[in-house]
Amino acid sequence: MATTIQYFEHLEDLDSESKYLVHKAKETTAFSYAPYSKFCVGAALMLDDGTVITGANQENASFPLCMCAERVALYAATSAHAGRTITKLAVVAHKKNHKELAAATCCGACRQVLLEFEARQKKPIEIIMMGEAGKWLKATANLLMPVSFGKESLE
Ligand code: THU
Repeated sequence: MATTIQYFEHLEDLDSESKYLVHKAKETTAFSYAPYSKFCVGAALMLDDGTVITGANQENASFPLCMCAERVALYAATSAHAGRTITKLAVVAHKKNHKELAAATCCGACRQVLLEFEARQKKPIEIIMMGEAGKWLKATANLLMPVSFGKESLE
């Protein structure tokens, strides 16, 4: 597992599983409910048995209740497949009625939740997303959230 964030110029430079998850995440933006931000986000994750689980962002007129695509997918996965390990998660976004993908890196809340999943399953999760200038990046939650707060602080 890489110890630094990896950057890729083109989607084609990623491994085939990552490309497949990006494709599934893209498809899932069709299920985004984003009437307020008009920012459609899709996430797709893979379990250690190859199962793919997807999620799309779900907004609410009470803005703090909006839920990110990543967390929709993560909680769906653990609710239906408890005990399975999540190996990879891809997230993509585009503006409503735009075809081209926009830069969308996981928000801080999702990074914190991803970190809890990594701690829980004792295995890192490879996160694939598109950063600025259309560059793809791959990182574990641990790398995206250094000096983090976790359960050891509560012991
Ligand atoms: N959003 C996600 O689904 N994932 C992210 O990582 C960033 C933000 C959603 C939340 C909200 O519905 C919209 O994008 C604008 O913030």
